Amino acid sequence: MAETETRSGTLVFAVNGERFELPTIDPSTTLLEFLRSQTRFKSAKLSCGEGGCGACVVLLSKYDPVLDKVEDFTISSCLTLLCSINKCSITTSEGLGNSKQGFHTIHQRFAGFHASQCGFCTPGMCVSLFGALVNAEKSNRSEAPPGFSKLTVSEAEKAVAGNLCRCTGYRSIADACKSFAADVDIEDLGLNSFWRKGESKEEMVSKLPFYNRNGEICTFPKFLKKEIRSGMSLDSKRYNWYSPASVEELQNLLKVYDTSKGTKIKVVVSNTGMGYYKELEYYDRYIDLKYIPELSIIRMDETGFEIGAAVTISKTIEALNNENQLEILSRDEIMFKKLANHMEKIASVFIRNTASVGGNLVMAQRKHFPSDIATILLAVGSTVVILSGHQFEKITLEEFLERPPLDFSSVLISVKIPNWASIKKVSPETNSILLFESYRAAPRPLGNALPYLNAAFMAEVSPCVTSDGIMVNHCQLAFGAFGTKHAIRTRMVEEFLTGKLLSFDVLYEAVKLVRATVVPEDGTANPVYSALFVKHSKLGQNFDQYHYNKMPTMLSSAKQVLELSNRYYPVGEPITKSGAAIQASGEAVYVDDIPSPMNCLHGAFIYSTKPLAWVKSIQVNLKSHPDGVAAVISFKDIPELGENIGAKSMFGTELLFADDLAQCAGQRLAFVVADTQKHADMAANCAVVEYGMEDLESPILSVEEAVRRSSFFEVPPLLYPNPVGDISKGMAEADHKIISAEIRLGSQYYFYMEYQTALAVPDEDNCMVVYSSIQCPESAHSVIAKCLGIPEHNVRVITRRVGGGFGGKAIRAMPVATACALAAYKLHRPVRMYLNRKTDMVVTGGRHPMKITYTVGFKSDGKVTALQLDILINAGISEDISPVMPHNICNALKKYDWGALSFDIKVCKTNYTSKSAMRAPGEVQGSFIAEAVIEHVASTLSLEVDSVRNVNLHTYNSLKLFYQNSAGEHLEYTLPSIWNKVAVFSSFNQRVEMVDEFNRCNKWKKRGISRVPIVHGVLVRSTPGRVSILNDGSIVVEVGGIELGQGLWTKVKQMAAFALSSIQCNGDGDLLDKVRVIQADTLSLIQGGFTAGSTTSESSCEAVRLCCNILVERLTPLKERLQEKMGTIQWETFIFQAYMQSVNLSASSFYVPDVSSSSYLNYGAAVSEVEVNLLTGETTILQVDIIYDCGQSLNPSVDLGQIEGAFVQGIGLFMSEEYLANSDGLVVAEGTWTYKIPSMDTIPKRFNVEILNSGHHEKRVLSSKASGEPPLLLAVSVHNATRAAIKEARKQLLSWSSKDELPSTFHLDVPATMPVVKELCGLDIVERYLEWNIGKK
Ligand SMILES: Cc1cc2nc3c(=O)[nH]c(=O)nc-3n(C[C@H](O)[C@H](O)[C@H](O)COP(=O)(O)OP(=O)(O)OC[C@H]3O[C@@H](n4cnc5c(N)ncnc54)[C@H](O)[C@@H]3O)c2cc1C
Ligand code: FES
Ligand code: FES
Repeated sequence: MAETETRSGTLVFAVNGERFELPTIDPSTTLLEFLRSQTRFKSAKLSCGEGGCGACVVLLSKYDPVLDKVEDFTISSCLTLLCSINKCSITTSEGLGNSKQGFHTIHQRFAGFHASQCGFCTPGMCVSLFGALVNAEKSNRSEAPPGFSKLTVSEAEKAVAGNLCRCTGYRSIADACKSFAADVDIEDLGLNSFWRKGESKEEMVSKLPFYNRNGEICTFPKFLKKEIRSGMSLDSKRYNWYSPASVEELQNLLKVYDTSKGTKIKVVVSNTGMGYYKELEYYDRYIDLKYIPELSIIRMDETGFEIGAAVTISKTIEALNNENQLEILSRDEIMFKKLANHMEKIASVFIRNTASVGGNLVMAQRKHFPSDIATILLAVGSTVVILSGHQFEKITLEEFLERPPLDFSSVLISVKIPNWASIKKVSPETNSILLFESYRAAPRPLGNALPYLNAAFMAEVSPCVTSDGIMVNHCQLAFGAFGTKHAIRTRMVEEFLTGKLLSFDVLYEAVKLVRATVVPEDGTANPVYSALFVKHSKLGQNFDQYHYNKMPTMLSSAKQVLELSNRYYPVGEPITKSGAAIQASGEAVYVDDIPSPMNCLHGAFIYSTKPLAWVKSIQVNLKSHPDGVAAVISFKDIPELGENIGAKSMFGTELLFADDLAQCAGQRLAFVVADTQKHADMAANCAVVEYGMEDLESPILSVEEAVRRSSFFEVPPLLYPNPVGDISKGMAEADHKIISAEIRLGSQYYFYMEYQTALAVPDEDNCMVVYSSIQCPESAHSVIAKCLGIPEHNVRVITRRVGGGFGGKAIRAMPVATACALAAYKLHRPVRMYLNRKTDMVVTGGRHPMKITYTVGFKSDGKVTALQLDILINAGISEDISPVMPHNICNALKKYDWGALSFDIKVCKTNYTSKSAMRAPGEVQGSFIAEAVIEHVASTLSLEVDSVRNVNLHTYNSLKLFYQNSAGEHLEYTLPSIWNKVAVFSSFNQRVEMVDEFNRCNKWKKRGISRVPIVHGVLVRSTPGRVSILNDGSIVVEVGGIELGQGLWTKVKQMAAFALSSIQCNGDGDLLDKVRVIQADTLSLIQGGFTAGSTTSESSCEAVRLCCNILVERLTPLKERLQEKMGTIQWETFIFQAYMQSVNLSASSFYVPDVSSSSYLNYGAAVSEVEVNLLTGETTILQVDIIYDCGQSLNPSVDLGQIEGAFVQGIGLFMSEEYLANSDGLVVAEGTWTYKIPSMDTIPKRFNVEILNSGHHEKRVLSSKASGEPPLLLAVSVHNATRAAIKEARKQLLSWSSKDELPSTFHLDVPATMPVVKELCGLDIVERYLEWNIGKK
């Protein structure tokens, strides 16, 4: 890189060693916007824009010229403002390595451990890990063995704990990260492509791509160091970015507030607050507080610990943990360490690395942010210094929080944590000890989730001289985040406890006082937590020892068992996913990574917020945002020959935009097109829609209302499932009945990491090329043509890869592509759109909610004789794929022998966004319903639920009765053996006893264990393929299926290599490397169909095999002639000869599955064990064991990834993902703050999977079976296990209560979130316990 002179005061920084100098920039520009729109470095991805996912993580390096030291830390580039990185260096995943200069070891290991599926999260993961490695190397720990880092296993996992992945289920990611740790036991690492099971440890280590610590890349280029030494600072005026270097300078800048009222100023430290408060305002000036010395101090003296307001949370943690400083104040060590420990659960590493303590407190004070820092610092009696005008003021944190919101010209300077000695009212007791504990109940134990409630208690206690009790000399109790304006001290409780000897009576009174004091305001999301924590205050000597503040552990072990077969080599090999390394390095191109063509515009949807209303007008207030809006497109802009169509399925179509009538909240009304995505989003956000309600009926917002008004979608009779047996007879045979029990199931959002996106480029002669992230380009193609009113040969849809689909990018992606095409057509300019997370969540739809009512008859041993169901499915406003839901529900529900089964299933048309296919659509609900019935029967009979499952499992004969044609041959019914095998694999029977024992011995934690079978039918569909051999012997493959991360391309490559290898040339052993699967192009390969239903990989493989067979047939005569003449022949020479002899080297096929084998059943079983914390409602998944029959896996590593990933997505559905809507049906879960998909710290602690290669399925594609969706159904075992644990909790609760007021059967909602579990375990569990003890006394 050439060294360049910085022009005076310009913004200069480096990205991957390249110098960037920007003469001007809008100061609200984020680093991510800049990287993605103005550089070639696209590895940092946008997936939330609010600091909650880690897809945008990059490494920031700062150079200190005085110490000649570089500081490196990870940051979220979506929140970092570009001006704040002046003279810094940025490293993205491309900067670590790439396909040209060689991949970094991190990339290689991510690929080799199969830790990248769709790849959208992977670059962020790689950089997060890199940041941890770089810093571990700087530590003064002892040297790690060659090839490893100084990082520990636990640090390696924590490094990526804030990064979300929707595909893999995290186990493989944890392994890739742990492979760097010095303390890793290499044998603990999971399936990878480096070594095979049974190799020695030394061999394994030698095969791991070598991590060369010394050869690490330089994170800070020399030229930038030189420029820093020359001492040029940013020209504040030019950039409207001010970085005062003293309090005086700051005061002068703030005066502007008083002098020129119109100037809008924003004070920032690291701008992470924008992740929560997504301000849409424009500011004229930014003032960066980071360079003021008083705000950056960290000082420890005999009075306590002082932290400047701009000090980051990471630095504060480091300082609080710093043992050198703590030597001076050893008595406070525990308190400081526990504060640090709590802070480690705030957000994620890459947020804590920049987020300031002061910023957090100001957000808590000014905007009532549910802060952890405010609560814990309140409990320890902290004080703050604020600057208002020219006045410094020192007040307590409590006073600060209680004041009216800090005005915008005042600044928080510092905060002080006093040490023990300086706390007032310290007792003269010499034998007293200081206790400090902090608590946080949050959906994720390790952070990256705001708490439902937090608390911190400090108490000075001493043993009582007259009895053996404990005396409270002094205490400070703080509660926060429970739904009031700010954290509070509970003075009344403190006063009550002070001077008291702890007893059950005292605690009971204290709990009652807390209940009266800690009261959430109306409208708080989860008020059940209001008085949670004091209930288990450790002040109570008789409580079980329970360390809440312990750092939770993550994945502790995992096992993968698979049988390999080389019968169809290289099919069946666990080869690395095609493209995994370029996904890791960030070179893989997703739609939003395609550089914008000249004059490209960006679009954003304006959607309805009303469920049913006339749309009178849509105003986009052009004044509220500076410039850039080019047009607002609505149904009125559809060309004369076109149609208002945005999507289609085999059942019907959907409007692109509402016409005069909006029919659901979230319906697209219009499309704003602007010069940048930011301007388009802002314009859409500020749009004002005028609605009218005249002459409209009320909207249908419940399935009951749909029934009342007979609002249904028709289900084609051929698709409607058939009842089984004689229901009246079955009911008559029953000894017992449960009549009309009810279950309700909610929705689930796809949460693909890549939002919906498309780019439409007008082409010559009235043509349109659309790049779309879609699972069915063919359908988008015809919808676009219809909408524009042009022939289909004028449209081309191209899809290379999709950053996660899960069904959400099938029908739901079509309107995105069509809207872009329509705007591009009208404006004659390229138009693209990358939805934002909120809009994506609001408009996309999701899984079908439903209401189920069942009546079940059964014998006394639990054998069900008849099941009658009434199911009302909420399908939303358009058909989409909803008419297949009855079939899918029954498909999985029939996994048990119900004796007789009958049902009435209605697909209700309601005023909600259209619900669509989401991974295992209907099947997962069907499987859940089956389990709910079984659980209900068992609890009614007080039988072990596992025995009830056992008696209801199908025999082959009953299976045939229920599944008819898809049941297959007797040998193919592998479920009974899987059922027994999984018991052995998981030591089920022993663990049932251990769980019982645990529950007998523990009061505040209970465990549950559950074994669950699944049967899941799939349908193989027709699909095309083409294989072409090029002049040099390399091979190009096109298939109908789309690569969504599910490994379709990898299996296809293996199949092409296998099928072509039958030509038997020299050198065809490595055909695999010669095969490239290319993007889907709807004009090149027609009839591509849908990539859905788990079977597209195998059908694409079969289509390719047919093509290869044609080629082999064409080539064989030539091969034989040549071989006769030349003996052996090289592949390349042979192909060259084929070209010379004009052999047609391109073959197409259209695979149409045989009717007899087009549908088949998949089997699996899982055992899950969970632990429920009765005090907080937290559920920890201790162990999961899965056995899944893959027939004969086409690629076991790909299938394993599908099994683990699907299972974890199922955990999200059953345990944490609440896709909530308001009373108008408008989705209110808007992003990562409220919608909690599983993260690294919420997956099973022990996660074991066995892939069964049963091989009994000869009619399948090389005996293989599907793996994409069925394993998701197994996650119901986690829900069942949770239910079992809650049952134990309720049994105990009942034993503490004199009144018999708890019903023995109960319903556990889906998802079983912490508040749901807590409520069932007893909100007043501690009071009951105390009352019971007091009564006993
Ligand atoms: C994804 C994510 C998860 C999070 N999770 C948690 C959590 O679990 N618990 C928790 O407690 N917090 C959490 N936070 C909040 C986080 O701690 C704050 O965003 C951060 O500390 C703010 O610091 P900042 O330097 O980025 O402030 P900025 O964003 O720069 O500023 C925040 C606000 O404070 C003002 N401000 C900043 N400093 C001063 C000052 N010294 N004087 C006057 N005004 C000032 C700014 O003008 C702005 O209005 C989370 C944040 C994110 C993004
Ligand atoms: S995009 Fe930045 S953290 Fe999600
Ligand atoms: S691989 Fe992680 S989101 Fe797809």
